[in-house]
Amino acid sequence: MIRLDANENPFGPSPLAVEAAAAALNISNLYPDDDSIPLRRKLADVHQIPGEQILITAGSTQMLSLLCQTLLGPGLNAITSERSFVVYGMAVRASGAQIIEAPMRGDHIDLAAILDLINEHTRLIFLANPNNPTGTMLDAESIEQFIAEVHRHVVIVLDEAYYEFAAYFAERRKVNYSGSLDYVRRTENVVVLRTFSKVHGLAGLLIGYGMVPAELMGYCARMRNTFSLSSVAQAAALAATADQDHVLETLANNAEQAQILGVGLSELGFHVLPTWANFLYCNVVQEAAAFAHRLREHGISVRPLEAWGAPGCIRVSIGTPQQNDAFLHAAQEIARRPPDTRVVGQ
Ligand SMILES: Cc1ncc(COP(=O)(O)O)c(C=O)c1O
Repeated sequence: MIRLDANENPFGPSPLAVEAAAAALNISNLYPDDDSIPLRRKLADVHQIPGEQILITAGSTQMLSLLCQTLLGPGLNAITSERSFVVYGMAVRASGAQIIEAPMRGDHIDLAAILDLINEHTRLIFLANPNNPTGTMLDAESIEQFIAEVHRHVVIVLDEAYYEFAAYFAERRKVNYSGSLDYVRRTENVVVLRTFSKVHGLAGLLIGYGMVPAELMGYCARMRNTFSLSSVAQAAALAATADQDHVLETLANNAEQAQILGVGLSELGFHVLPTWANFLYCNVVQEAAAFAHRLREHGISVRPLEAWGAPGCIRVSIGTPQQNDAFLHAAQEIARRPPDTRVVGQ
């Protein structure tokens, strides 16, 4: 099965990360470093954020849960956009609070609609930037203006799981993508999330981090379970930060293949949104669940988006040239042969 359904790195993890993980396995009789000191130091250096403001967690999804447990409870609410990352709703509901979804403007997160929904019970706002599954991006100026308009009792979470992909596109498209770290330094109510699951290819080890204002950090860190991050994940992540070749290979392939896939899908009469991440949001102009089912018969897995309220759309991760070629061929085959002309049993 060619997996183009979870926005993973198609080239695998960095070889340096694999080597470091293997070495860490040899000492896996010992409990891990609960403060992740070497990795935190490294990230503090890379991002120029004090190490005390970096919380390393079992994926950025664990950080989302910690924020919800810390700031939410029954009677309170968090706001996000419709058609965004599903885990926001899960984490909010698990804390007993209510998740409110703002309507989108076209396929874009509508910051004005989110502002309109804030009330005295709102404690958190989640912005996936770029957004999953639409792949759309909010530029630095819009976010800056939004932050200025949100009252300080609300914490804004800028989820930058696809940061490296967006930054790469932004440089080439001459767009100002993100000034997120400045907000962490300057304000008390902005949290930035990053992960090693995407460009670094470590999704199976689940390691991510939040950069958190100092006071909030004190509360969140107390909610974390001890030893929740394996020494293997920590070692792999630290080594991955040193492998720029792996990152650059991934980013260059992603940008080139986004273009090729976009053209190929458009030629089939499908509508593709320009992406800022490592996946494409594509209206296949037919029932997407059936389309995805037929793709699976060709050995390719993509994500149909009916559960996101987009029954005609799929999200397809950008793979290697060979994977994308196989996907486009299968999509062409399916487009050529509508479902009702298929012979049952073939
Ligand atoms: C917007 C967004 N945030 C966070 C994550 C998950 O990150 P992690 O693997 O670090 O939990 C994803 C994964 O798909 C995502 O799309």
